[in-house]
Amino acid sequence: MYKIAVLPGDGIGAEIVPEAVKALKAVESRFGHEFQFTEALVGGAAYDETGTPLPDDTLKLCRNSDAVLLGAIGGPKWDNLPVHLRPEVGALLPLRKELALYANLRPCILFPGLLQASTLKEEVISGVDILVIRELTGGLYFGEKSREKMPDGSQKATDILTYSSIEIERIVRFAYEAARRRRGKLCSVDKANVIETSRLWREIVGDIAPDYSDVETVHMYVDNCSMQLIRNPRQFDVIVTENMFGDILTDEASMLTGSIGMLPSASIGGKVALYEPSHGSAPDIAGQKKANPLATILSAAMMLRYSFDLEKESQVIEQAVRLVLEEGYRTPDLMEDGRNLLDTVQMGDLVAQKIELI
Ligand code: IPM
Ligand code: MG
Repeated sequence: MYKIAVLPGDGIGAEIVPEAVKALKAVESRFGHEFQFTEALVGGAAYDETGTPLPDDTLKLCRNSDAVLLGAIGGPKWDNLPVHLRPEVGALLPLRKELALYANLRPCILFPGLLQASTLKEEVISGVDILVIRELTGGLYFGEKSREKMPDGSQKATDILTYSSIEIERIVRFAYEAARRRRGKLCSVDKANVIETSRLWREIVGDIAPDYSDVETVHMYVDNCSMQLIRNPRQFDVIVTENMFGDILTDEASMLTGSIGMLPSASIGGKVALYEPSHGSAPDIAGQKKANPLATILSAAMMLRYSFDLEKESQVIEQAVRLVLEEGYRTPDLMEDGRNLLDTVQMGDLVAQKIELI
């Protein structure tokens, strides 16, 4: 039996997470596994109920589970709270840190059925299959932050960007291992022409590279990488980068898959891993059944693969998603002429049905 902590969170989180649970339940019945789902509050929803965005009970539940399924966190309602109570800073970042989830895997795969759904040209994106590995527990996100009032009455704000060689080495080795199991190409992204942490990053990649002589190593500045992702995305296999660059590049890379609603993620490194879509809580469409649940469903597939070692089951979910898209079913974010528009629940139902059938 596998224990799964279910944290819907805020905004569309409450709509997409049940659809991923539905997919997992379909896997349960088809393959005879037993998943035990326990729901808990996190983010703004937890703040409203308990006065804190990450209640101790929630953290304890995560620690005592085999994996965590998270929806999304944050929204305008909580944007003006003191910073430590804001859902992102008060819940999502501590959750990542407390669970020691230093490696964030974001696979950008273009499902063939979505070739025409992207705003980018077919010949550019056809065949895209990139794994972005984002360092998740260091860098600017976790550096000391401060505000100072200057003598002239103006203000100064500071965010410290720190990376230790230990933090860099473990994520870079992780990425090399992943590249070795894929097409054997690693692109390390930094800003070593300007930033000191990036210079250390590049040095360490250089030191480790000889241990992986079967993997081709490329260094790329982050500005160039953001351009190359649109110019010729098929040049990439595995991309490894620091926290902030990874955040920005993965939103960009999601468009290679048709929609940010297609980009799943796995955050691993500690005893318990966390699975969440790469997108946010989308307050503008929350509560309207317009959200695309596929990124969350695909995150559940990643859970089966990485936390439970259920590769076949994981592939069945991915295959179900592929078939539903090939049959022309779409949520609004992917809508094109001549396709069948579904709401969040209908899309989840269809994927669950396919899981049981194929
Ligand atoms: C992501 C999100 C988060 C991040 C936000 C919600 C804090 O954008 O997971 O990419 O910046 O890490
Ligand atoms: Mg982001």
